[in-house]
Amino acid sequence: MNDYILEMKNISKSFFGIKVLENAQLQVKPGEVHVLLGENGAGKSTLIKILSSAYKKEAGQIFVNGVEVDFKSPKEAIDNGVSVIYQEFNLNPHMAVYENIYLGKEHLRKGLINKKESIIESEKYMKLIGLNVSPTTLVSKLSVAEKQMVEIAKAITTDVKVLVLDEPTAAITDKETEKLFDIIRSLKAKGVGIIYISHRMSELVEIGDRCTIMRDGAFVSTVELKETSVDELTRLMVGRNVSFEKIENKFIDKDQVALRVENLSFKKLLKNINFEINKGEIFGLAGLVGAGRTELAKCIIGEYKTVGATIKIRDHLLKGNSVPETIKNKMVYLSEDRKDEGLITIHSVKENIALPNLLKFKKILLNDKKMINTTKEYINKLRIRTSSPLAEVKTLSGGNQQKVVIAKWLCLNADVYIFDEPTRGIDVGARDEIYAIMYELIKNGASIIMISSDLVEVMKMCDRVAVMKEGQFVTILENDEHLTQEIILTYALHGGNKNEEC
Ligand SMILES: Nc1ncnc2c1ncn2[C@@H]1O[C@H](COP(=O)(O)OP(=O)(O)OP(=O)(O)O)[C@@H](O)[C@H]1O
Ligand SMILES: [Mg+2]
Repeated sequence: MNDYILEMKNISKSFFGIKVLENAQLQVKPGEVHVLLGENGAGKSTLIKILSSAYKKEAGQIFVNGVEVDFKSPKEAIDNGVSVIYQEFNLNPHMAVYENIYLGKEHLRKGLINKKESIIESEKYMKLIGLNVSPTTLVSKLSVAEKQMVEIAKAITTDVKVLVLDEPTAAITDKETEKLFDIIRSLKAKGVGIIYISHRMSELVEIGDRCTIMRDGAFVSTVELKETSVDELTRLMVGRNVSFEKIENKFIDKDQVALRVENLSFKKLLKNINFEINKGEIFGLAGLVGAGRTELAKCIIGEYKTVGATIKIRDHLLKGNSVPETIKNKMVYLSEDRKDEGLITIHSVKENIALPNLLKFKKILLNDKKMINTTKEYINKLRIRTSSPLAEVKTLSGGNQQKVVIAKWLCLNADVYIFDEPTRGIDVGARDEIYAIMYELIKNGASIIMISSDLVEVMKMCDRVAVMKEGQFVTILENDEHLTQEIILTYALHGGNKNEEC
């Protein structure tokens, strides 16, 4: 038997003359979880796409179980045991869950698709990973987390030797992550080599065995995770230290209310939500996937229509409950689902950042030079890695696309920002930059609602944390020295005294 189930040697790749990978390498043992780590744009996803043959390599070799391979299509890769779950979803939204799971490998009976068997088989895999929806549900009806779980179910139905998970936990919370880790551990026990890409440092150490670090498309080092620390990994990856300690908020003004929400209910999803946030406050919304956090945000901004709720920005009552009215009153929402709501990926970085803002406010004539300058300003501020302001957003790495979403809304100079999972898919160095930008916003008098499934960042950033469960506020916690991740998680899982402090 070979030492390595997968070897990638001296892989190089350019896009439009720009070198994205240069002599990249990766060696994965059977039965190990091999973490691939690097900043946004370091080339991780590109390396993986070369493995699955979604992209063609310019140089280098790939070996599976010691045998050189050169897959001609992703299907050939899957047939040879190499399955990839991509960072961006690859599902057909107009098909049912079970159809997606068995797409291209349908159960046949007398030449016809055997729907019943596909449904029964899908259900088995869905149960295994804890995806509790009907197999006949349309994928478009699912949440981000559930779509991700369909991807996982789809991959594990094949006879997989190498499984790549490109940021599988970016959209799921701790409880689902534990479930995923159980699945990964059982695949490991069967000798599957797992390549695991994530920007959540704490989980890498928990699930990973070895780690390959990449920087600027090149190999930096492969280390045993047991023998290293998160600090050391961060240094190898970004070249500096990053702190996750809570930053003291000196800008909060407890005498001024920035946003008040009263009696907000919505269909069966949200029940009697009441809270207010102060000027300069960062107010966290924690809870499991499906707890209603995104729905709450969409009700507040008027995308979903509520009846009987009172929403006030400063002292101004929002009467129309509509998105234009909300934006006019300087409250904006940064969506968690950048592909569906945040970005038009076939448009340029410039068009995504500057155009909507200029059109909305019409303060400035549509001046291309100004648009380019604004875009450049944000490219620098957020360190967006793009070849030019005119590059199509779809050519940017996942994390850099997320930064474009943030830039687009920062341009608006709002008083209340609702950030929905703002650092999903963002590397640890860039996260720190986004946190600094949030601090800049509150320093200038804005307030922030931060929806986050990452309790490390909730603890670092938020002044208070509302924990939601099944569409209700279970509690609102002060982020003082007594608060721990466990306390938040216990409320999210098991509830507590409803509407305490509301
Ligand atoms: N189709 C493409 N056309 C042009 N450039 C591309 C294309 N795909 C990727 N790139 C560029 O290659 C570089 C590496 O991108 P890649 O997606 O591999 O990064 P990554 O390490 O996966 O980052 P992230 O952590 O943000 O997902 C980026 O600068 C990106 O803009
Ligand atoms: Mg990527």
